[in-house]
Amino acid sequence: MLSYAHELSQRFADLTGIDPELRPATRPEFGHFQTNVALRLAKTRGQKPRDIAAELVEQIELGDICEPLEIAGPGFINIRLTEAALADGVTTLLRDPHTGVAKAETPQRIVIDYSSPNVAKQMHVGHLRSTIIGDCFNRVLTAQGHEVVPQNHIGDWGTQFGQLLEQMDDEGLDASTLTLDEADALYKRAAARFKSDEAFAERARKRVVSLQGGDPLSRRQWEALIAISKDAFNQTYDRLGVKLTDEHLAGESTYNDLLAVVAAQVEESGVAVLDAGALCIFVDGYDAPLIIRKSDGGYGYDITDLTAIRYRVEELGAERIIYVTDVRQHSHFMQIFAAARTAGYLPESVVAEHVGYGMVLGEDGRPLKSRDGSAATLASLLDAAEAERARAIAIGAIKYADLSTGLNKDYVFDLDRMVQTQGDTGPYLQYAHARICQVERKAEAEQLTVPDAVTVLAHPSEQALALLLSRYGEIVADVAETLQPHRLCTYLHELAVAVARFYDDCPVLRSEGEVRQSRLGLIEAARRVLAHGLDLLGIQAPERM
Ligand code: ARG
Repeated sequence: MLSYAHELSQRFADLTGIDPELRPATRPEFGHFQTNVALRLAKTRGQKPRDIAAELVEQIELGDICEPLEIAGPGFINIRLTEAALADGVTTLLRDPHTGVAKAETPQRIVIDYSSPNVAKQMHVGHLRSTIIGDCFNRVLTAQGHEVVPQNHIGDWGTQFGQLLEQMDDEGLDASTLTLDEADALYKRAAARFKSDEAFAERARKRVVSLQGGDPLSRRQWEALIAISKDAFNQTYDRLGVKLTDEHLAGESTYNDLLAVVAAQVEESGVAVLDAGALCIFVDGYDAPLIIRKSDGGYGYDITDLTAIRYRVEELGAERIIYVTDVRQHSHFMQIFAAARTAGYLPESVVAEHVGYGMVLGEDGRPLKSRDGSAATLASLLDAAEAERARAIAIGAIKYADLSTGLNKDYVFDLDRMVQTQGDTGPYLQYAHARICQVERKAEAEQLTVPDAVTVLAHPSEQALALLLSRYGEIVADVAETLQPHRLCTYLHELAVAVARFYDDCPVLRSEGEVRQSRLGLIEAARRVLAHGLDLLGIQAPERM
């Protein structure tokens, strides 16, 4: 469904050739929108603005949706939608199974790389952001009819496994009996020793080689580490209510067998060159090259990402690829995309985007820390929030706080603020939804049915609500394109505020007859949009609070 503003802009543009730049009317007496298009045309045409306004009012065909247009002041045009047009819009929304969200004209296959924690390590607050944001993109793009392929690029390969396996042997530990907490602690011990104990470091380096060479014992321990990590990740995903499962796991090790193939390809084509024994891709504008193969023959993060692109395009059929990581990796991905285009792995027809997010800060304005001074674990934050509120509300509060500011900004993890039912918070939106449910329950108790049509919209607060509802589909389309969830948050918050104002001004159950029925329909439309929008953010909409 198109918003009225969109429809009106279109008709003005068809007639005048320019965007009318509609503004919301400053007062209800002036209607719903105003445009200064006549004043702007007057300058280019050298005519009087009021004359042009009169001409436009005469020529434009808006009779089906607007009251007669009015000319104000020096030549502004005031536009008032008819009550019937507004009511029809809400009725259409009420009867639309997709709540006004249009399907994309050309559905795409879209790979989203998100969450991507590291094996044998606790998920930290950065992974919280990637998981929540990626899940939101997944929901929004799926709602538009795209085929989303989530890829959880977990860190399950690399030199740290040599350290882990050696340390485990030294301590006589069996990976399959460890919890993720214990594995995390083990990893810290191993990493510290790797730095201080040269003999251990040497053993660890050899151990990676034997793991990568397929040594059965190393392989088994490595698989056990992955299994316990996966279980812990899945518990967190369940708790967060995100749509990630084992079928979306595609960790770094997935690409292992392809790395040598890609290295040979880029070397042969001349895209990569040898530099001090290492195979490198130099990309214009970057100080350091991408390392395709280290001088000791090892492979790392860069070639794995390059290979993953090739796989996603060729094997998964990706037409758009979205990466969600912290902003510090932005230049890494820009460099990878550029190299992938040169190497022929990323055709121009495939869009690749990196969405970077900022840091989560403690109330002291520094990166959020746990009690022992390490980066805060995700589990500890969820525990703290759930101690304050029931799970659906606690998780909703955290997600809303995360999604509602521009992604690339840092934000302060202020638990007290985010769980409030007042202000720009998740619980405020959930409360708006629950309050409508409560009114509907009362209506039912009074034998009233909630209709699927709206017929009367006389009060400005009813009209304001109807106007906002008509914009929902466009907001979702905008988020799908720009990947900026805070715009949906802002919209839903405005909607919740408009609902509250409507309650203040317009009694529902204490009104009568057609007005009461129409108002029940109006709040039902608002309820549906709130529930739908919250769902796209991955936030539950409880019926009671
Ligand atoms: N495992 C990495 C980390 O924890 C994130 C991986 C992101 N995805 C990728 N394709 N590089 O920082």
